[in-house]
Amino acid sequence: MQQDLLAGQAALEEFLSADIVVLGAPMYNFTIPSQLKAWIDRIVVAGKTFTYGANGPQGLAGNKRVIVAISRGGFYGADTPMAALEHLETYLRSMFGFIGVTRLEFISADGIQVGPEHREKALAGALEAATNLHAA
Ligand SMILES: Cc1cc2nc3c(=O)[nH]c(=O)nc-3n(C[C@H](O)[C@H](O)[C@H](O)COP(=O)(O)O)c2cc1C
Repeated sequence: MQQDLLAGQAALEEFLSADIVVLGAPMYNFTIPSQLKAWIDRIVVAGKTFTYGANGPQGLAGNKRVIVAISRGGFYGADTPMAALEHLETYLRSMFGFIGVTRLEFISADGIQVGPEHREKALAGALEAATNLHAA
């Protein structure tokens, strides 16, 4: 238990001290993997990354740039029948917004499991987007 608490504290401190945070987030069953949820549970901490003020919750992590590389087996765009099942990017946007992150960037590889052609196109597009990220 003690070791677990220390590991959680270390994850929080690593996040608090970072200027830029890069995450990988594949879609598992329409949302984030449980390992990523466990990390989020250690960094979304009252008094550290958010607080409750007179006007409700207020994020305290606005000093960071967060880049998230996401991959999805299928397609979940607004114009697709699967749109309502998209709880990966939408969740991460809400969660990072809650703790005050405004410099939030997503790189997406979609349709990874649809077939080799889609997979190649998605990976090439994501790689190009990563190459074009601004340095600061
Ligand atoms: C357990 C599991 C659940 C998945 N669930 C979904 C899903 O709900 N929707 C989807 O589009 N793709 C789903 N996929 C496909 C992954 O999002 C996709 O293949 C991703 O690139 C996997 O990344 P990884 O190899 O880093 O785990 C799932 C894959 C796994 C292994």
